[in-house]
Amino acid sequence: MLQVSDLKVSYGQSEVIHGIALEVEMNETVAVMGRNGMGKTTLFKSLIGALSASAGDISLDGKSVTSMESYDRVKHGIAYVPQGRMIFPTLTVEENIRTGLSSTGKRNIPEDIFALFPVLWDMRKRKGGNLSGGQQQQLAIARALVTDPKVLLLDEPTEGIQPSIIKDIANVLNEIRKLREISIIVSEQVLSFTMAIADRIIVIEKGNFIREDRREEVDEAQISKYLSV
Ligand SMILES: Nc1ncnc2c1ncn2[C@@H]1O[C@H](COP(=O)(O)OP(=O)(O)OP(=O)(O)O)[C@@H](O)[C@H]1O
Ligand SMILES: [Mg+2]
Repeated sequence: MLQVSDLKVSYGQSEVIHGIALEVEMNETVAVMGRNGMGKTTLFKSLIGALSASAGDISLDGKSVTSMESYDRVKHGIAYVPQGRMIFPTLTVEENIRTGLSSTGKRNIPEDIFALFPVLWDMRKRKGGNLSGGQQQQLAIARALVTDPKVLLLDEPTEGIQPSIIKDIANVLNEIRKLREISIIVSEQVLSFTMAIADRIIVIEKGNFIREDRREEVDEAQISKYLSV
C-alpha cells in the first residue's frame, strides 16, 4: 500500500533523514520508534508532503506521490494525525471533523465515525479546546478518517495521554484496521502501546532505520534501550 525508497529529507544544508526504505501492506500496522529528535516527525511530514524530500520516492498503492502537494496526497489516500493533535480549539467537535471532509466532496460526517468515537458524539457541540488530551486525540483521528485514507499516519498519538486512554486509542486503532482496508503507521516512544497494535516495530536512530522486528519476535528489553521511556 505504501512504498518508500531511499528517502532523504533535509532542513537547509542539514540532512535529517538519510535514505529510508519502508513498505507497508494493506491492513498492516507498523510502528516507528525512537527517542526525541531521531527524525520521526520529519519522516512523517515528508510522507504527507509538508516537507519535500531531497531524494527518493514515496508511492501509494503503486502511484508515486513524491511530487504532489499535501492536498493532493490526501486526495490520493494519505491522512495525517500530527504530533500535538493540532485540532482547532475554537471550533466545535463537529466543525473540527468537518474540516477533514473538505477534500472529499462529502457533506455529512459518516455515522461510523461516531460509532468508533462515541465520546465525540456526546461532545459534538463543544469547543475542541475544551476537550481533554485523550479526547482531542480521538478528534484528530476522526478528522483524519473522514478522508477515507488508505494510509493513516499518526505521529506520537499517546504523547501526554494517561494510560487508561492510551488503551482506548489502541483499541480504536485495532478496530479501524478490522473495519477498513487501511494501513496504519505510528511513530511512538511507548512500547506497551505499539505492542498492542503493531505487526512490526522499526527503530529509528538519527534518521536511519537501524532495527526491525515482527511483534512476535520483539525483545522488549532490547527495544527499550532505544527509547527514553
Ligand atoms: N524546522 C527544523 N529546522 C531544522 N532542524 C530541525 C527542524 N525540525 C526538526 N529539526 C531537527 O531534525 C531532527 C529530527 O527532529 P524530529 O522533530 O523529526 O524528531 P522526532 O523524532 O519527531 O522527535 P520528538 O520525539 O521530540 O517529536 C532533530 O535533530 C531536530 O533538531
Ligand atoms: Mg516528533
